[in-house]
Amino acid sequence: MSAYLKEYLWAKEQPESFWHAQAQKIDWFEFPQTILKKDENGIERWYPDGLLNTSWLALDYHCEQGRGDQTALIYDSPVTGKKQRYSYFALRDTVARIAGMLADQGVTKGDRVIIYMPMIPEAAMAMLACARLGAIHSVVFGGFAPNELAVRIEDAEPKVIMTASCGIEINKVIPYKPMVDKAIMDSRWKPEKVVVFQRPECLADLDNERDLDWSAQYEKALPHACVPVLATDPLYILYTSGTTGKPKGVVRDNGGHAVAMKYSMSCIYDMPQDGVFWAASDVGWVVGHSYIVYAPLIHGCTTILYEGKPVRTPDPGAFWRVCQEYKVTALFSAPTAFRAIKKEDPNGELLEKYNLNHLKTIFMAGERLDPPTLEWVQEKTNKPVIDHWWQTETGWAIAGNPTGIELMPVKAGSATKPIPGYQVEILNEVGEVLPPNQQGFVALKRPLPPSCLTTVWRNHDRFETGYLAQFPDYYVSGDGGYLDEDGYLFIMGRIDDVINVAGHRLSTGEMEEIVGAHPAVAECAVVGVHDELKGQLPLGLVVLKDGVKVDLESLESELVNSVRSHIGAVACFKHALVVERLPKTRSGKILRRIIRQIADGESYTVPSTIDDPSSLNELEKILHV
Ligand code: COA
Ligand code: AMP
Repeated sequence: MSAYLKEYLWAKEQPESFWHAQAQKIDWFEFPQTILKKDENGIERWYPDGLLNTSWLALDYHCEQGRGDQTALIYDSPVTGKKQRYSYFALRDTVARIAGMLADQGVTKGDRVIIYMPMIPEAAMAMLACARLGAIHSVVFGGFAPNELAVRIEDAEPKVIMTASCGIEINKVIPYKPMVDKAIMDSRWKPEKVVVFQRPECLADLDNERDLDWSAQYEKALPHACVPVLATDPLYILYTSGTTGKPKGVVRDNGGHAVAMKYSMSCIYDMPQDGVFWAASDVGWVVGHSYIVYAPLIHGCTTILYEGKPVRTPDPGAFWRVCQEYKVTALFSAPTAFRAIKKEDPNGELLEKYNLNHLKTIFMAGERLDPPTLEWVQEKTNKPVIDHWWQTETGWAIAGNPTGIELMPVKAGSATKPIPGYQVEILNEVGEVLPPNQQGFVALKRPLPPSCLTTVWRNHDRFETGYLAQFPDYYVSGDGGYLDEDGYLFIMGRIDDVINVAGHRLSTGEMEEIVGAHPAVAECAVVGVHDELKGQLPLGLVVLKDGVKVDLESLESELVNSVRSHIGAVACFKHALVVERLPKTRSGKILRRIIRQIADGESYTVPSTIDDPSSLNELEKILHV
């Protein structure tokens, strides 16, 4: 039996024994007596009576073990020219004082703190400071517009918001404070304090009585100790796009998360403790939570926080420069980042300038790793390139190539096999398990392993209806796909209204709500169409209200601006076309899948339930001019 199969079967057949063994690899204040137990909602909970603190595991524990002088975090910012290193001692001491600064504002265990910050070390420190107090952080991606921030403030009800004066994108400085002020104004919930980290590139006006200057508060603060929390207490809420305009607050617990993070660093990433881990993502996304902040630090590695892009900061050699400079062991990013590099440096000339001897493996996730990108990166770097599939909801990979157990042969287009702890099955509409090579709903058999969400913040019903109700004993992932005859998993894309734009998860349903609110629009559909660089881009189709006369170009730019100001520039909503009618079934359901297939030039089957087949001819003409 292969090493992988042995471990997989252990986790499948004796989950409590398997996860008991993994739990022993972290430093608990009180080791759990119970490994798995259902809660009052009937949801499986890991380690319900264990006591720990995630900030302790990520920082203090290593200092106690004599590794305090090792570099914990490297900040590399090509957009400002800054580079900084923090040892475990330094990071622990700074985080302890930031925790003290939050405690001075009355933040205690269970309180929520929203962190709306760019990619600076203080963002990671703020997260760890919340964890230290047992407060629940909710990081909001800096690319989101005030409206998105307001929705999250209203749902999470934070006592404090931590922010910075600005973010820095390629050639532009984005002031954050006015966006925070606008979001608070638009939200029914008002935080007590807004703590602002001033960056020299753009100072914020601290003119509201709730505003506090980060540095001034920090100077006054005393270090705060780690507060013991139950394994089942929430560590964070991370909002992610669902099918409606209201994002879902994925709740991550402390204990299961810490155990899964630790396990993943060995099983999936094969990281030594003195290794350098670089997740080129953003702390606003789940990849940033798990693999910029928590997992590398819990494992005792050096993590890199990079404030830049794969290209244009300053060139497509940026990734390779960082890998060489810090002797990166494992690099993790989204395929779109490598497509951007490939586009600007197709022959990998910049890559040849750098020494990548320390780089062992390249990992990718966030969207499907398309075979041409896989092959290009493999060929140019001569390193194993590993696709792995996961979601905000799980916090770590569901399927991948477990390089720490056994590096399996790579099949292009596949995320390889279920990671031990997950049981992936393909189901049809009525919940029957499908045989190999047949596409269906990708579902996970319960119990889900540690770290997976156990509820949606203050909306448990949404967790039940959105994920669990469709098939008894399963969690539905929202992705479609199949397992081949060797048990390799192929993820074929979302089967709901979620799209992936440059590795960013967005809701077309939310965009439809914004477009549909325009006074000239009677109805609309937004679908994700294929894009060479970003994987998918949203495209809007709108039907005008009867008798409305508009200039089509002005309408398009109004709709584009509206999506940009509601969601943010990351939505990349750039096109809206006017059509006579949308293809629908006789019961009025818009055939979004067919719209997407036509836009992508794919063949499609006209459903027998279509109301007006001629609506498809019009689309063919409009979309293929
Ligand atoms: N704050 C403010 N604005 C942001 C932002 C942030 N954190 N991140 C992106 N934006 C803005 C960009 O400036 C751009 O604005 P513009 O329309 O005014 O030019 C817009 O959002 C779109 O950004 P993006 O999709 O990132 O496109 P890009 O052309 O700037 O860069 C890539 C393209 C491929 C280089 C970039 O998307 C990338 O590095 N992707 C990596 C994917 C990734 O990290 N995914 C996370 C999950 S692993
Ligand atoms: P997010 O929650 O932002 O991490 O997005 C999760 C979604 O991204 C998944 O449901 C998939 O649709 C997609 N995704 C993530 N990783 C992969 C992958 N390796 N292959 C295919 N799709 C992926």
